Amino acid sequence: MTDSRLAIVVLAAGQGTRMKSATPKVLHPLAGVPLLGHVLNTAQVLDAQHLLVVVRHERDKVAAAARELAPEAVIVDQDEIPGTGRAVEQAVAAIPDEFDGDVLVLSGDVPLMDADTLASVLAGHRDAGVPVTLFSTIVADPTGYGRIVRDVDGSVSRIVEQKDASEDERAITEVNAGMYVFAVHALRDKLAHLTTENAQGEKYLTDIVGALNGDGHSIGGVVVAEEWKVWGVNDRAQLAQVGAQLNAITVRDWQLAGVTIQDPATTWIDRAVTIEADATILPNTHLKGATAIAAGAVVGPDTTLVDTEVGAGATVKRTDATLAVIGAGATVGPFSYLRPGTVLGASGKIGAFVEAKNAVIGEGAKVPHLSYVGDAEIGAGANIGAGGITANYDGENKHRTVIGAGAKTGAHTVFVAPVTLGAGAYTGAGSTIRKDVPPGALALGVSPQRNLERWVHANRPGSAADQAAREAQGSAEAQDEEGQGR
Ligand code: UD1
Ligand code: CA
Repeated sequence: MTDSRLAIVVLAAGQGTRMKSATPKVLHPLAGVPLLGHVLNTAQVLDAQHLLVVVRHERDKVAAAARELAPEAVIVDQDEIPGTGRAVEQAVAAIPDEFDGDVLVLSGDVPLMDADTLASVLAGHRDAGVPVTLFSTIVADPTGYGRIVRDVDGSVSRIVEQKDASEDERAITEVNAGMYVFAVHALRDKLAHLTTENAQGEKYLTDIVGALNGDGHSIGGVVVAEEWKVWGVNDRAQLAQVGAQLNAITVRDWQLAGVTIQDPATTWIDRAVTIEADATILPNTHLKGATAIAAGAVVGPDTTLVDTEVGAGATVKRTDATLAVIGAGATVGPFSYLRPGTVLGASGKIGAFVEAKNAVIGEGAKVPHLSYVGDAEIGAGANIGAGGITANYDGENKHRTVIGAGAKTGAHTVFVAPVTLGAGAYTGAGSTIRKDVPPGALALGVSPQRNLERWVHANRPGSAADQAAREAQGSAEAQDEEGQGR
């Protein structure tokens, strides 16, 4: 149910300078979802009355992403005054005056915080009746974070940013998570008095904590036990660290749900992936996008699947697949490349060094070796001999090849599309099929073989080949004589 006394502000206007990237920081992907998407997904669980996203740097890109990820969000533009305080100030100005609840501030670059933790902190904040509750954690290396300064009695007194901190303050390992719950009135009041008088010339949201404490208010503080939940992403090293943490959690969740994952360290699973119990994932496997793996399937090693469906009991080994569907009991790999639109029927096979694209391969059909199958339909039970190629591209347009059910094509058959091979038809090895073949026919697309006897002797006399041929002929003649003598 919507919490009518809650507004959530997500900060996403910062430049993300330390990423050194043309892509805005909050749009860098983590497990297939932009950083901002993780934060918005979490925010959505809390179902607040107001959800606001503050943008500025690469404004259009970030706003478009925010709209897509959370269509209900209000986009707020931050002006040229920098700082998290200014960002929140402008967001709060967009909240209707009559709103009388709490404002939860989240950072677009802190992706691993979960809704349960936020909800319990919010409940604690409301029980305590304090004007602000902040989230902190103890980290081994506090570099870059704001430090939580506490009084001798242990209560929070203020937050000091890394760049403004004294040497003693820098030694503090309790850091500000960049997430807070404010009573809206206290927040509005203090935002109006923020200045940019600090090392970075920004309006710091963090200064509000000290200001409220200065007025004699007590400050709520929750020390989050799991340090990783408040890890922020400021540079690419932190992006990798946060990614590894999220992946470790994802892998473990699937293991506890009944999936065998042999090597968590080399198995990477995006957030939107689904895996049924009793599937097995072997080392060095990346499951991306909306990939779905059914029960009993074995995927890997060395496999990357993007938005790909793997049916029950299928085997997919050393394969790269995107937007493909692999039927139940089918086998794929090793060294197979499945491009978008590949649909392999139940119990079908795509084998070694085969590339498929926009190809529907029927139930039990096999493309076992060294083939290209593009813009094609292969009927149930058909077998494509080694080296079969659908020549789908005439230099201008792509054309379809249709191969009927039960057909068997000889090794190295080339289908010059558009062309149809009827059900149950055969092709001779090396054939180039340019005309449709009726069902049940044998198509021979190569000229009859001619043997020019003793050609080597006539044209390459004395060569090693000639030598070998003469020896073979000699022993054949000797054998012949022996045969005749008997
Ligand atoms: C901030 C906190 C710091 C805390 C850390 C936790 C301040 C002053 N400092 O520092 O105490 O330990 O987060 O991760 O708040 N943003 C805007 N507008 C701006 C500047 C930033 O929307 O003008 C957004 C950014 O896009 C980002 C978030 O606010 O999502 C935090 O900004 P960032 O510059 O990363 O702050 P930190 O230096 O990490
Ligand atoms: Ca940050």
